[in-house]
Amino acid sequence: MNIKLSNFYKTSWTLCKQNNSVRSVVNYQRKVLGIETSCDDTGAAIVDENGKILGEALVSQKEVHLKTGGIIPSVAQQLHKDNIDRVVNEAILSSGISLHDVSAIATTVKPGLALSLGVGLSYSLNLVKRYNKPFIPIHHMEAHALTVRLLHQVEFPFLVLLISGGHCLLSVANGISDFLLLGQSLDESPGEALDKVARRLSLLKHPECSSMSGGQSIEHLAHFGDKRFIKHSPPMAHYQDCNFSFSGLRNYYDRLIQKMEVKEGIQKGELLSCAADIAASCQHSVAHHLVKRTQRAILFCKQEKLLGATKASLVVSGGVACNEYIRKILKNLTDEMDMSLLCPPPHFCTDNGVMIAWNGIEKLRTGAGVLENTDDICYEPRALFGTDISQQVRKAAIKLPSLKNMK
Ligand code: KG4
Ligand code: ZN
Repeated sequence: MNIKLSNFYKTSWTLCKQNNSVRSVVNYQRKVLGIETSCDDTGAAIVDENGKILGEALVSQKEVHLKTGGIIPSVAQQLHKDNIDRVVNEAILSSGISLHDVSAIATTVKPGLALSLGVGLSYSLNLVKRYNKPFIPIHHMEAHALTVRLLHQVEFPFLVLLISGGHCLLSVANGISDFLLLGQSLDESPGEALDKVARRLSLLKHPECSSMSGGQSIEHLAHFGDKRFIKHSPPMAHYQDCNFSFSGLRNYYDRLIQKMEVKEGIQKGELLSCAADIAASCQHSVAHHLVKRTQRAILFCKQEKLLGATKASLVVSGGVACNEYIRKILKNLTDEMDMSLLCPPPHFCTDNGVMIAWNGIEKLRTGAGVLENTDDICYEPRALFGTDISQQVRKAAIKLPSLKNMK
């Protein structure tokens, strides 16, 4: 019998061989191993074409970096080196398959910390060589943007807001590797601002927040505080575009904390009695800024007919998208604008190997960006995201009507 396997990238059928004889033809779901090391999480996962997560492992460096008050790249690099083999093997073991059975290896190559990206890339290229597999380089932010398609049936185009410790991006997702960038942060990311305010408030000393990231501790304390304690109007209100700025807002809270320390007669590093109120107010300010820029993005997309005829979706992802308060006020926005809000569960909003493996599957399906030759591949700490149309957004100069549920 002369049965040839059809084109590697297009087939979803293969032959099951035993003792060198063809036994049966079985439906075969292609599988991808995904590896993530762009920042401070070492993640790996195996996902199949149906979006089934066969195996997964993740080691977070959060506790180490919390102690040093931020990520020290060389420390992150060493921890990735220490953990990557264990994480990848655990993902493979829990999947019950062997590396011989995966169709490709996908790895984050941009953007991120150079030293961290380097560990994942060189480890992956070794596997690629040893197992003779195609390689799929992954853009970390594109992977965040498309994770939602593993969980929900979301068709292109959709609007996506990515809010993390390193980024703040608003874009239209038109396809697997096709994004229109409407706006981005001109300075800090919302996660960075929340982390710095939490650090300035010394929240690690708070008994309930000692193992939480800055953003998590701000959210936790905000439950007990009054967001009207102090009002900060949304940044960049006079710029009729979709860009963000968080550094002025963060400086404002820095100065406020200093003032309150003097008022309460305490030293920097001690806990303020009004810490919960400051957390609630700061969280509200970040949320308010995110909502106003997203409101303009929605109006722009409607005006330019960028989101199709049926009820459009706003997808929100990245670590800061774990925040329930931010989700709630974005939900108010989408309800008011007749859109659906989709947020992956927290485990899929923060960095993980599943999102990389899934992005690999999406690319494998189209065949684009799947490399047989990895001679020229290198990591890129800084990388563009999509086609930048932020000038067009600014030119449109869309004024924002006030929102019912946003005070
Ligand atoms: O996406 P991510 O895991 O890593 C990258 O930056 O790529 O995001 C981490 C950021 C940190 O700044 C962290 O403080 C923030 O996400 N974060 C939160 C929450 N959980 C994590 N921010 C606000 N509320 C949360 N619940
Ligand atoms: Zn991320």
